[in-house]
Amino acid sequence: HGAEALAQDLAGRRVLISAGGTREPLDPVRYLGNRSSGKQGYALARVAAARGAEVVLVAANVELPAPFGVRVVAVGTAEELRTAMHAEAKDADVVVMAAAVADFRPATVAGAKLKKDSASEPDSVALVRNPDVLAELVGSRPAGQLVVGFAAETGDADGDVLTHARAKLARKGCDLLVVNDVSAGQVFGRSENSVVVLAADGSAAAVPHGSKDAVAAGIWTTITPQLPPPPP
Ligand code: CTP
Ligand code: CA
Repeated sequence: HGAEALAQDLAGRRVLISAGGTREPLDPVRYLGNRSSGKQGYALARVAAARGAEVVLVAANVELPAPFGVRVVAVGTAEELRTAMHAEAKDADVVVMAAAVADFRPATVAGAKLKKDSASEPDSVALVRNPDVLAELVGSRPAGQLVVGFAAETGDADGDVLTHARAKLARKGCDLLVVNDVSAGQVFGRSENSVVVLAADGSAAAVPHGSKDAVAAGIWTTITPQLPPPPP
């Protein structure tokens, strides 16, 4: 590490970040999950703390050491993540939803391990919708709080990555949406990344390709000027 001072442009700011991916149990040993490693969310927490913020990290199933100076709240399911985020968001200046939240969960969770029946094919798994935590946080946020969503998108027959992302930003109602193009399948678990930060006013800021720490620094440099001035 060099001796140069890092900009303290987040000094006195309270930052809440979710990271990782939720797991939705089927029985005591099995779950529906996703490939989110938590690396980008952890990098955002590490950079925010280094730039002076007071950081809380709600971590869903992440196997990474807690970043220095960051308070980590460990959760498993979308429901647990929701409860933790609502509790911690009350006094945050900025909320960043970097976690991959399962859209659906099994409708019932077996109390004992499910057994295979050699005589028949397996039942299908009935799913129910999970709450949209980001949309809820937007709906219940205190005045002046900035809410930032994440989206991993691919282009398809209905439109390109940015078209889908702009529609998602409008649907969620958040202030900023950090968009990852995952068309090439190159993001999950990798240590490098590049993103575009879309704002509700239609503007788009590209954060160039780099390490997840470099991308996190670029994301904060985009977010910080959007924060209302701190109280004197
Ligand atoms: N998100 C959330 N709660 C959910 C689903 C998503 O808070 N139940 C948040 C994610 O943390 C992310 C943003 O919403 O910040 C976008 O997630 P994404 O999965 O891209 O959006 P969805 O609305 O679920 O749309 P899609 O059908 O593309 O999955
Ligand atoms: Ca989703």
